[in-house]
Amino acid sequence: MDKNNPIGVFDSGVGGSSIWQEIHKLLPFENVIYLADSKNAPYGNKSSEEIIALSIKNVEKLRELDCKIIVVACNTATTNAVWTLRENYKIPIIGIEPAIKPAALQTTSKSVGILATKGTLSSTLFSKTAKEFTKDISVVEIIGEGLVLLIEAGKLDSPEMISLLKTHTKPMIEANIDYLVLGCSHYPYLIPQLKKILPENVKIIDSGEAVARQTKTVLQSLNLLREENTTPKLQFYTNAETDTLKLLLKDFAEKISIEKRDF
Ligand code: SIN
Repeated sequence: MDKNNPIGVFDSGVGGSSIWQEIHKLLPFENVIYLADSKNAPYGNKSSEEIIALSIKNVEKLRELDCKIIVVACNTATTNAVWTLRENYKIPIIGIEPAIKPAALQTTSKSVGILATKGTLSSTLFSKTAKEFTKDISVVEIIGEGLVLLIEAGKLDSPEMISLLKTHTKPMIEANIDYLVLGCSHYPYLIPQLKKILPENVKIIDSGEAVARQTKTVLQSLNLLREENTTPKLQFYTNAETDTLKLLLKDFAEKISIEKRDF
């Protein structure tokens, strides 16, 4: 494998681009290919078998494109499919899990909220982690029903979005949470809206930075980090319309390409 081969990133849609932003911040010289499987979004309400099949399809595509490592930038795909992917492929595979541990360790109100998809919250991997770290605290788990579809449609500030966020966070506010864990890679795009709704003392955490650090550690250990001060090729492919990716990544418009492709 060559250092110049790209990092492959996939998500059920546009949300994993929030994880890409963290990867790019930490590894600005790395070539990246991002697959947004928006045609099949959301993954969160699909069966485990369907999520595994879609994840395999995305990994096959990224392998065909010569990726040196794969980042599953989707909580639902990670919690349902990462072990199957690791069993089936030799290529290193990084997953993303909700940041329950740091929230559980730092909460002073002893109450933490987790917003994620049904597919993530009902997965064995999630329940195992939650059980391990939340013995002494109360956890309010809420399914972010409807959020992914609105984000995919670029409706971040729409009245429907604000109303859904108010409904989803109400039980958390009533339970006096001081940490909100975002357990879906789409949700970091809702941080500005959530900040307006949640009490000021509530801290919002996601897993983007941790995934970026883990990606760097693995590439370093395999001697696959690209040389510094080289211009990266940053390619985004979506199998739906390009509008929302363009909107979310407008600050990077000069240096990335966004294309519609079938996969
Ligand atoms: C979804 O496709 O339902 C959400 C993706 C995620 O869990 O990160």
